Amino acid sequence: MKLLVIGSGGREHALAWRLAQSPRVQKIYVAPGNGGTANAPLLENLPLQDTDALIAFARDEKIAFTVVGPEAPLAAGIVDAFRAAGQRIFGPTQAAAQLESSKDYAKAFMQRHGIPTAAYQTFTDPQQAKAYIQEQGAPIVIKADGLAAGKGVVVAQTLDEALQAIDHMLGNDGAFGAAGARVVVEEFLDGEEASFIVMCDGQHVLPLATSQDHKRLQDADTGPNTGGMGAYSPAPLVSPALHNRIMREVIQPAIQGMAHDGIPYTGFLYAGLMIDQGPDISRPLKVLEFNCRLGDPETQPIMLRVKNDFTETLEHAVNGTLDQAEIEWDRRTAVGVVLAAAGYPDHPRKGDAITSLAPDTDTCVTFHAGTAIQDGQLRTSGGRVLCITALADSIRRAQQAAYDAVNQTLFEGRQFRRDIGWRALNTSKRHD
Ligand code: AMP
Ligand code: GLY
Repeated sequence: MKLLVIGSGGREHALAWRLAQSPRVQKIYVAPGNGGTANAPLLENLPLQDTDALIAFARDEKIAFTVVGPEAPLAAGIVDAFRAAGQRIFGPTQAAAQLESSKDYAKAFMQRHGIPTAAYQTFTDPQQAKAYIQEQGAPIVIKADGLAAGKGVVVAQTLDEALQAIDHMLGNDGAFGAAGARVVVEEFLDGEEASFIVMCDGQHVLPLATSQDHKRLQDADTGPNTGGMGAYSPAPLVSPALHNRIMREVIQPAIQGMAHDGIPYTGFLYAGLMIDQGPDISRPLKVLEFNCRLGDPETQPIMLRVKNDFTETLEHAVNGTLDQAEIEWDRRTAVGVVLAAAGYPDHPRKGDAITSLAPDTDTCVTFHAGTAIQDGQLRTSGGRVLCITALADSIRRAQQAAYDAVNQTLFEGRQFRRDIGWRALNTSKRHD
């Protein structure tokens, strides 16, 4: 079979890489792809972005089904367009993608369906937003209402910071453009985050392995928020009992809520959770955000752990038979470390030559994101450049293997965290 993956990030490279292991696969096109998907076995980049051109390609090449990685084409309605043209595709419709594309929609949805989330109010007027913030006090969280690549959130520790964020998002400097026309001001939640991603076919749900991301740029969770600087799977924080609670209190109400609202959810659904660090299972569990797609970089360690033929899993998802699907997980731990370009996240520099890459092995793979081949030379072409992902029988060994490969990977100005996996390491120490 031939498949089409839409996107150009590390998430899409990892997905295409896993799908390419299937004996059923003849070719996987990645549109537009990156410097890694340009050269990998069975993968081919497709320099198309326009939805009509992609649909024509899928039809002409008899693509078995298409999978969409990033949120922007989903929010623009690519799934609706493919379906209208009779092409099979896995992802949420434009209406369903609002769970991610509008924070205000997502918050109202959660409230309506009893899904636990932080208290909030939505504002368009900066003065009203500021008055509310003064009343609530700091810390407090300000979110631009629209897609902002994980960078539209300010966790303000002080009132000053919060008020500045309002000026930035609603004021005249217009830093967020249309996305900043509305802001959600939200209660600050303390605790530990986990990423809980499931597949849905409109009716049935199949959870993927759990994972944890590292949002801040620098070690010890300091520095600015980013799209994610590294991830691991599984997340030891999510015990079997907590897993059941998340399914019962978050995932099932979300899927049923969407169906109830007349917008059946198909695609990957990602719940970003904040879990209070108390000792007992009844501790507060709240949804920070829904994403209508796989996480990046969470997908990289998750895909390294899939043992079965993932084309079959996706086929069930596209056919509406996810109740018959199972995923076989490697019991080992996978850790992915992101190497970002100089200047990321604000002003990533492009064009640095990547002069050395670690060789891929069965248990360590370099997934590409912001890379491109220019005149035969692999160069940086985006904020997050590579995600080096390793699998081993403990978090410590997976971390060591990933960092050994990081040390062999060279480009000018590379930035990476040296502590990816620290929370899991603490949890495993507690259990020793
Ligand atoms: P979001 O895009 O909504 O997930 O926000 C990005 C990041 O900001 C999250 O992963 C958290 O680290 C942080 N964050 C978002 N909302 C809150 C909140 N209510 N309290 C504390 N931190 C938050
Ligand atoms: N890594 C966080 C996200 O994909 O939104």
